[in-house]
Amino acid sequence: MTAKLSPSMMCAGIGGLSGALDAFKSAGVEYLHVDVMDGVFVPNYSLGTDYVRQLRELSHIPLDIHLMVERPERHIDDFLRAGADGITMHIEAADPATLPQTLQRIHDAGKEAALCVKPATPTEAVYPWLDALDMVLVMTVEPGFGGQAFMADMLPKVKALREEITRRGLHVMIQVDGGISGETIGQAYAAGADCFVAGSAVFNAEDAEDAIFQLRNAWYP
Ligand code: DX5
Ligand code: ZN
Repeated sequence: MTAKLSPSMMCAGIGGLSGALDAFKSAGVEYLHVDVMDGVFVPNYSLGTDYVRQLRELSHIPLDIHLMVERPERHIDDFLRAGADGITMHIEAADPATLPQTLQRIHDAGKEAALCVKPATPTEAVYPWLDALDMVLVMTVEPGFGGQAFMADMLPKVKALREEITRRGLHVMIQVDGGISGETIGQAYAAGADCFVAGSAVFNAEDAEDAIFQLRNAWYP
């Protein structure tokens, strides 16, 4: 199974941004992960459409937008216009009545649609929409902050979700986000995850390109 990496830009210091983007380009990362927080769905604020627009101008790497906001469907057109390549909405925050149309709007724009579950939410919550998804994000920390410890008790959720995707014959990526490092990435890969968000593991390292290399080498447990 091939796997993808998505460095979490929220963890990048402003000063180190352009150096990090050069490192990601030469390391060939598949996505840049942009965390969007509204201070309501999660107790923190972070990046928004202006950031996405500017990042789009600075880099050609596909932008994976993680919306940690209430009623995300109100904002997806703005993020698509700003340059998003994939949009992830929390199942706990999205309006279920309009979700099929919301996913369709993302696909109509030629972009990838994903749903996300917080640690307390069972992955079964996304099953009704699985056929219409490109990716499911299983949070491996409580959303809101970088630098938290990986929750290994989320691995059975990843495993059961991978089995369901395989059982249905679908091609849906499973992303994990939170506490991914050289120590934890192999367990997540073995459970069936194939897209890894990494914040601290990349941005707290001396050399971001080497950190990417280390993560890729640690996929296999
Ligand atoms: C948490 C964010 C993550 C976070 C990851 O709410 O969604 O993307 O920045 O940071 P680390 O890898 O440090 O847990
Ligand atoms: Zn995230």
